[in-house]
Amino acid sequence: MLKSIISIVFALTLLTACGGGGDSAMDKEPETKTEAPAEEQSNEASLTIEGDDQMQFDKKEMTVKAGAEVTLTLKHTGKMPVETMGHNWVLLKQGTGIAEFAEGAATAGLDGDYIPADASAVIAHTKTIGGGEETTITFTAPEAGTYEYICSFPGHWAMMKGTLIVE
Ligand code: CO
Repeated sequence: MLKSIISIVFALTLLTACGGGGDSAMDKEPETKTEAPAEEQSNEASLTIEGDDQMQFDKKEMTVKAGAEVTLTLKHTGKMPVETMGHNWVLLKQGTGIAEFAEGAATAGLDGDYIPADASAVIAHTKTIGGGEETTITFTAPEAGTYEYICSFPGHWAMMKGTLIVE
């Protein structure tokens, strides 16, 4: 009698264990389902922009949400070296005089990533890269508004510029 009680208890324990396993497997599904909204809440954004040997960005406009943790990758799809066809991506504060900024950037040189010593106008920037290279930065999107981005390599900003729209 005692023996059969023990085996019943044992069997029940096994069932519970299996049930438990089943439960945790079921738990997993809602977990993956809630992942998407969780990501939305954390407000992350991934951007990719390319520069080429024709001195062009492939995007003239990009959009992110205010406060988003932005991961931005700049790819240089050309073949020319950084010394002659360097590209970076520089996001500027509103009201920045781009021509004036670019002048300061040019004097910073490649070693300074073409970012002026006084970088107060810069919200975020990548390093300067050559053909076949890529670089990634993360930054927090500023408050809602429109912001200009450029490549600050000497002479590039006139062609290599675009608008980041922050919603
Ligand atoms: Co450039």
